[in-house]
Amino acid sequence: MTKTFLKSVSSANSKFPKELLIWNYWDHEHIVGTHFEHYKKVNILYEDQKVCFSERWAKLSFIPFYLKTTDLCVMTNENQMDVFHYAFFNFIYCKQTFVFEENSQKECKVTRHTHLQVPSFLKFLQPFFDKIMQKWFVDVWEEDMPMRERRFKVWKLGFEDFKGINYINNPEIIKNNSLNREYKVKLPIPKITHIKNKSSEKTFLRIIKKSKHIGYGLPDL
Ligand SMILES: [Fe+2]
Repeated sequence: MTKTFLKSVSSANSKFPKELLIWNYWDHEHIVGTHFEHYKKVNILYEDQKVCFSERWAKLSFIPFYLKTTDLCVMTNENQMDVFHYAFFNFIYCKQTFVFEENSQKECKVTRHTHLQVPSFLKFLQPFFDKIMQKWFVDVWEEDMPMRERRFKVWKLGFEDFKGINYINNPEIIKNNSLNREYKVKLPIPKITHIKNKSSEKTFLRIIKKSKHIGYGLPDL
């Protein structure tokens, strides 16, 4: 059977630095929280500084059931992430490329290129596929926005993972108003909310199905 690819491209500008966006894309814990309407489970089988091999149980727009995908994310270079998705015993193959372009103001644009392999006779689905992917990109982008804003805000106040902000933790420390911290990401991102068992896998389950606002409130600090 001859095959072809359905294609879709989306892009969006952000006010965030590139490495913060890469942190967001590589943070697997938030997938079953922030994106709880799309995902119910994520299982990381292996990850290191450049790759993450995982399984996800995802619900796509207009498709009424969860699809289990096997996913390989690769930081191909410092400005590009490639994601290979397989589903239905490798019958479905999809490749996505995310290109990060940061300007001189440290604001990053993201462009997503998606290629879904299908039998040639399904080529007529191209407009429908593009519509699904465009909607998916916008929905997920908007869902991610509050956590990106919160992360950037606390980062500029000196936040460190699992430590917090020094002058909040210790009232005797004076707030440093001239802190000018460049955002840095180090992969893999440390994780704590996976199911604790003896397996080397890291499994994250959806706990909350209703509110997407838990934890988003952030007073002025
Ligand atoms: Fe996200």
